Amino acid sequence: ITPRLIFISYRLRSACRLQRIQGHVMSTKAGSEVLFEKVGNAGVITLNRPKALNALNLTMIRHIYPQLKKWDKDSETDLVIIKGAGDKGFCAGGDIRAITEAGKAGDSLTQDLFREEYILNNTIGTYQKPYVALIDGITMGGGVGLSIHGRFRVATEKTLFAMPETGIGKRQPVFLSPCGFIICLTRQIVSLEKDLVDLKSPSNSDVAQLLDSYQEQMGFLYMFVFVGLLLFCCFRLFSAGSVEEIMENLKKDGSAFALKQTETLAKMSPTSLKLTFRQIQEGARMSLQAVLVMEYRLSQACMRGNDFYEGVRAVLIDKDQSPKWKPSTLSGVSEQAIEECFSSLGERDLKL
Ligand SMILES: *[C@@H]1O[C@H](CO)[C@@H](O)[C@H](O)[C@H]1NC(C)=O
Ligand SMILES: *[C@@H]1O[C@H](CO)[C@@H](O)[C@H](O)[C@H]1NC(C)=O
Repeated sequence: ITPRLIFISYRLRSACRLQRIQGHVMSTKAGSEVLFEKVGNAGVITLNRPKALNALNLTMIRHIYPQLKKWDKDSETDLVIIKGAGDKGFCAGGDIRAITEAGKAGDSLTQDLFREEYILNNTIGTYQKPYVALIDGITMGGGVGLSIHGRFRVATEKTLFAMPETGIGKRQPVFLSPCGFIICLTRQIVSLEKDLVDLKSPSNSDVAQLLDSYQEQMGFLYMFVFVGLLLFCCFRLFSAGSVEEIMENLKKDGSAFALKQTETLAKMSPTSLKLTFRQIQEGARMSLQAVLVMEYRLSQACMRGNDFYEGVRAVLIDKDQSPKWKPSTLSGVSEQAIEECFSSLGERDLKL
């Protein structure tokens, strides 16, 4: 058989499969911002706010959580796939504007949103059935939570994975699970999804095998370099005793890369930097559940402080890009202020 024939027969097979799938789709809409479909034995979640880059809000979390629980118990569901609508992004984080407004108004939305997000992360992190996130495009903040904790992540050449929270005075999530990403090409995503749906009662290793067959050799290479760089940076970060020391090291290093990093860090909220640093140090030794409890405390601390609102003002509202952090220097941030952000919320602590 010539390659061309293989190609044609492959195309034919996928066309048939597509028809079969279309026959099976029973779309259960729960508000249009997130769609749930049963495609064969797969539960498919589509974040459906393409104009807002599928940003996650509380309504969506409240739909996703019970559906995930239901599918985990349902004998007719073998795996779950989550993806984003449109061709730009998987999910561009939480709804920062909504959080800001609620936080300013002292609305309970901020307590609920973070609490429910972290409970959802935990559900995904402990999901029994194969959970596959197709992160083709921008994946930030909340999108990270919806993908990183799951067993499988499929990224493409279009994936932009970012946790920009420190820039707006919120901390970065730190629990990066050790499993890697599968890298495939955007144009393969549709057929990959069809193949996933076609698997009969797949185990995690069946899914892994299928995804491996899509793994791009080049992508793998890029990822390897990328992960290497990341580990290198983390190593340096971990090996310093404080944020001040990191800044010192970077300045001493003097390379273009180091200077760029210094510049970036200097723009960030000093409080956020210190919180993030301590969070990374502590989080590295904690279970997912303990990290989520810690994260929730920090989210609430940020909503009480100044820098989150100031960051949102400077980056998203006035767009002057010059936030006035309080305190404005690293030395101005007291140990005690940091300590308070990590302390228990008593009754209001996150319970998993
Ligand atoms: C979430 O977004 C949808 C669609 O834009 C909107 O209808 C809904 O009211 C939002 N929910 C919250 C809690 O902001
Ligand atoms: C949990 O999920 C939310 C949203 O999905 C995300 O913003 C947050 O960073 C996640 N936290 C952790 C520790 O992964």
